[in-house]
Amino acid sequence: MAKGANEPAARTRLTAFDLRERKGGTKITMLALYDFPFARLAESAGIDTILVGDSLGMVVQGHESTVPVTLEDIIYHARAVRRGAPNTHVVADMPFLTYQVGVDRAIENAGRLMQEAGADSVKLEGGREVAETIAAIVRTGIPVIGHIGLTPQSAGALGGFKVQGRDPDSARGILDDAAAVADAGASAMVVEVVPAELGALITESVAIPTIGIGAGPACDGQVLVAHDMLGFQQGRLPRFVKVYADIGPRIREAFAAYARDVEDGSYPGRGQTYGMPEETLAALREGSA
Ligand code: KIV
Repeated sequence: MAKGANEPAARTRLTAFDLRERKGGTKITMLALYDFPFARLAESAGIDTILVGDSLGMVVQGHESTVPVTLEDIIYHARAVRRGAPNTHVVADMPFLTYQVGVDRAIENAGRLMQEAGADSVKLEGGREVAETIAAIVRTGIPVIGHIGLTPQSAGALGGFKVQGRDPDSARGILDDAAAVADAGASAMVVEVVPAELGALITESVAIPTIGIGAGPACDGQVLVAHDMLGFQQGRLPRFVKVYADIGPRIREAFAAYARDVEDGSYPGRGQTYGMPEETLAALREGSA
């Protein structure tokens, strides 16, 4: 078999324009992940877009929230993802306080994500209150993905990680946020943890794709955190997570088996050990080498 014959053919990286064109068409697939090997696997699986999300603060850095994540963290991880998925649209998250403290600062930080991390677009959280910032970033030529509903950077102010838009006022507010983000020129928007009915209303009401996470099946696409859908998280998972492969417990078993083997001397075995010519060993033993 020719080298690489069983690898999928290289594909063209989707642009933000291409994503926008998918409104109402083939659903957009997005995974949040943060490193080279996962990025490589996602690209070869045909995932449309990779989000280097600030969820990395909770998922791989072990923080309680996404707030401690820095722009440097996202740049570091996005570079690794870019190397693993050169033909996949990479969205880089704008962390807390990288876009709220003035439009100029937001443009500069969004620019760094494009220039230094090789991102194709940036994502920022919020609705009406960030519409002007989105518009300003878009005017510089940087594609923006919005993020409304449950916005983890302000989870404290929203009463924790809970379903948003259950009462008429908050549902109307989220619909207004969706309109503001779309009018500001965003290419698409993530809609997080809202009732499925509201996810459908938002999707009907805006001309750009909605990418849902816990926002029901009517959205134009879906996003999940790779570590969640692979069973890496311990404890209760949010209702919207579907575990596609429960790899976390298998990794734990492998680590435990390795520890047992090292402790009882069965690792490394002959198959994992390098040898030396007998004469060299004999010479060493005789002290003549
Ligand atoms: O940071 C992230 O991974 C996200 C997704 C949950 C949408 O924003």
